[in-house]
Amino acid sequence: MNSNDKPRLRFFENSPSQRHIQPSDQYIYAHEEPSYALGVIGTGTIGQEHMRVATMLGRARVHGVYDSQAESLDVAIGGFEAYAGKAPVRYDSLEAACNDPETDALFVCTPNYTHIDVFEVAAKSGKAIFLEKPMATTIDDAKRIVEVANDYASFVQVGLQYRYKAPYVEARHEVLERHSLGDVRMISMSEYRPPFLDKVGQWNKFARYSGGTLVEKCCHYFDLLNLFAGARPERVFASGGQAVNFRDFVKDGKNADIDDHAFVIVDYNNGVRASFTLNMFAPHFYEELVVSGVGGRLVASESFNFYEDEIARSSVAIEHGESAATRRIDLAYAKDIDQSGHHGATFYEHVAFMDHLDGKSTDAATPLQGLWSIVVAAAAQESVDSGQAIRIDDLIGRHSLDTVL
Ligand SMILES: NC(=O)c1ccc[n+]([C@@H]2O[C@H](COP(=O)([O-])OP(=O)(O)OC[C@H]3O[C@@H](n4cnc5c(N)ncnc54)[C@H](O)[C@@H]3O)[C@@H](O)[C@H]2O)c1
Repeated sequence: MNSNDKPRLRFFENSPSQRHIQPSDQYIYAHEEPSYALGVIGTGTIGQEHMRVATMLGRARVHGVYDSQAESLDVAIGGFEAYAGKAPVRYDSLEAACNDPETDALFVCTPNYTHIDVFEVAAKSGKAIFLEKPMATTIDDAKRIVEVANDYASFVQVGLQYRYKAPYVEARHEVLERHSLGDVRMISMSEYRPPFLDKVGQWNKFARYSGGTLVEKCCHYFDLLNLFAGARPERVFASGGQAVNFRDFVKDGKNADIDDHAFVIVDYNNGVRASFTLNMFAPHFYEELVVSGVGGRLVASESFNFYEDEIARSSVAIEHGESAATRRIDLAYAKDIDQSGHHGATFYEHVAFMDHLDGKSTDAATPLQGLWSIVVAAAAQESVDSGQAIRIDDLIGRHSLDTVL
């Protein structure tokens, strides 16, 4: 049994009732020395989540942090000290954060429109890079990132971690590994959720900073559609708009211009048809994935009503009618893991990143998969604006993507 397979009981080891257990008596509570040191760039909402999750997983330690806003650093360092017992190094520039010889990997957690510039500096370090989603706000910037990543001595992992949410892990296993549904023909995915949260500088209220809602938020779902379709997207048609949220929001004289609802249809070149529904003025969170194949149907869902629930309610059903048994399974990650961020998806994304550092192959999102998620998202955003279906070949031609696809 290697150290990563050792049984862990995080719930007990973190419990106040177990603090009297001395290091000499610790076996299942014993913490291995972390193998890697991380630098975190951008210590806002998700940067702090990565600091917390990395510390909880324990395979890497957060060595240093950098943010362009002092208040974000103060809050992140204060919070980190409270649970980790030690302050990380506070870098005073991006270059210092990227080139600290103590760190093995960099987590880029800054707003979408800054990713390309931060990534270019980070990539000079030769260190492993975790780059938050969407990897860029434009197809051209995403292409540039793929080009750099293709020649990179180390690796780049993109933060499309919804593939690690419990219902989608199970769905991937059933559909793509067990082939429980036979050939896939139709996929429909939906997300109902409350509005975007406040952000530093409110970058997520403006398409020029976020890439638009379908890029910023929905790249996660287009990544999932691409995975389940197992083919290249061919044509995208979308209808959407700003019906409810931030209609009176003005910053620096500019009105918020981000969509809060949409229907998107994607045709794949293997005949699979997919759809995505977005609604961002719902009272709580609900996601559903329905995959229909020649031999059955799968329904995976995740519901989180933060007014009532402690952890997400997740399930997957595999329906076979008369041909085989139908199964309905409730799913839950361990409570501490569920509550550490994005219902455990971030935790398992870190497991993949650490495995990658250990030299193992993983199923985490690659820069090319990140680019494909943006291609579908950008096509959908363009379709909303133009009212026309967008042919992906046209888009590939316009952006000369042939060199990287
Ligand atoms: N994978 C996910 O599920 C997920 C969830 C949330 C956010 N994100 C992504 O993470 C990124 C950050 O989002 P957030 O919610 O943490 O935003 P945030 O506004 O809460 O935090 C961003 C932080 O980056 C800092 N920053 C801005 N420009 C910078 C620069 N050039 N250099 C260093 N620091 C800079 C800001 O001061 C702020 O503290 C975005 O790309 C977002 O899309 C991903």
